[in-house]
This record gives sequence, C-alpha cells and structure tokens, in this order.
Amino acid sequence: MAKDAVTEHTGPGHVAIIMDGNGRWAQQRGRPRLFGHHAGAKRVREIVNACPDLGVSHLTIFAFSTENWKRTQSEVAGLMRLFRRYIEREARDLLKEGVRVRFIGDRMKLDDKLVSLMDNLEMLTSHNDRVHLTIALNYGGRDEVTRAAKKMAFEIEQGRLTHKDVDAETLGRFLDTQFLPDPDLVIRTSGEARISNFLLWQSAYAEYEFIDTLWPDFTAEEFGQVLGNYGNRERRFGAVLA
Ligand code: IPE
Ligand code: IPE
Ligand code: MG
Repeated sequence: MAKDAVTEHTGPGHVAIIMDGNGRWAQQRGRPRLFGHHAGAKRVREIVNACPDLGVSHLTIFAFSTENWKRTQSEVAGLMRLFRRYIEREARDLLKEGVRVRFIGDRMKLDDKLVSLMDNLEMLTSHNDRVHLTIALNYGGRDEVTRAAKKMAFEIEQGRLTHKDVDAETLGRFLDTQFLPDPDLVIRTSGEARISNFLLWQSAYAEYEFIDTLWPDFTAEEFGQVLGNYGNRERRFGAVLA
C-alpha cells in the first residue's frame, strides 16, 4: 500500500489547481477572453509565492489541456504567446524564489520556440527545491496514460520488460508525473464541478475543493482558507480507521 490510512490534521503537501474561469471573468468586464487569461497569469505568482508559508511543497497547475486546441485559432495563438511571455518574464523571479519548474503534457504539438523556453526554464531551476511548481501544458490525463502505455509496450517489444512487469507502479514510472507525489488536494475555481481530464491516474485518492471564485480573483488569502478546510478532512485510503 502506498500510504498508511491516517487521520492527519496537517496541510496538503501537493496541491493541484484547475485554474478555470478566465473567459467569464473577462466577459463580465466586456473584454476579450485573452484579457482574462492575462489577468489569470498574473495570479500565478501570488499563489506560488504563498506556498512555502502554507506548507505546500508541490504545486501543479493546469494551464492548457489537450482539448483546449478546440478553441478559436486566435485564442489558442494568444495563449501560446502568453505562455512564452510568462516564461521569459518570470524566469528570473522563479529562480530567485527557489522554485523548481517542470512541465507535464505532450510537447510534440507545441512550437519549437516555446518548447526550448520550457526546457531552459526546467534546466535553469533544476537545483531549486523550495517549491516544486509543475505546469500542465497540452496536458490530458487520458493522453498521458495512453502515451505511457505506448512507451511501456515499446519496452516490451524491445525485450527490456515483459508483460509480467506491468503493474500500477511500473505504469506510474512511464507517466509524465513520474517525479511527483500524488496530489493530496485538487482545487478547481469557477464553480464547475468536473476534472476535465486533469491528473486522472494520480488523483485516485485526492480530496477535491470546487470553489466559485473565478481564477483571476483567486487570492493567496482564499488559497489559505481552502487549505484550512483540508485540515479537517479524514482521509481513509480505502481502509477502516480504528
Ligand atoms: C481557464 O479559463 C484557462 C484555460 C482553459 C486556458 P477558461 O478560458 O476556461 O475560462 P472560462 O471557463 O471560459 O470562463
Ligand atoms: C480545464 O478547463 C483546463 C484548464 C484549466 C487549462 P476547461 O475550461 O478547458 O474545461 P471544460 O471545457 O470547462 O471542461
Ligand atoms: Mg473553462
């Protein structure tokens, strides 16, 4: 068993966030959707910087899903531009704040310039360990598990594994998240109560918080309150507690 069944009243070490509601936030102000995405990107810094004091060692954020390509060409292009600018602008501060940044998701569909910025940021911050920030970009849980299965099948084909080696632990080693603990808490902003293909495998025993606030309005203070609620939950991991 991966973890003992315990009633811990400690904070969640790994928090994952579905940052939703940028479009509606902009719409409420009569502005284009990209205006909301820019406001949302600004929030990320505040939430990342709040992590050490809140006892959060790992933060994983959903920035772009494998399904988000279905949006208009101009929204997708604007988001890709925003990701490039975010990395260029934030790299120095992330390094200085002790943040180790890694990306999960399929990089094959992303443009070369963006991928090289991502690679560089991962390398630049690779010695940090105050906060582990993982950014899910062109990420989908089903896509990730499918790619992992394909890599595993290839290893079997090459004779480096056999079908007898296939178990949950082995599959986990082929996932994009192989370097991450499972999330303790998944937060989704904007009032939608669904997971939209985020960390399907890894969230098997995560706690969930669905909150109404739109992502660009989500403050460090509210983040702290949500983490406070988590402290009162009893996690059982399938066992019966004594
Ligand atoms: C989340 O905000 C950001 C991305 C998916 C890139 P949305 O763009 O989904 O905002 P809403 O849900 O339309 O309000
Ligand atoms: C999930 O939000 C993806 C991100 C936050 C990046 P969506 O807005 O794309 O999800 P749906 O379409 O409402 O399920
Ligand atoms: Mg949305």
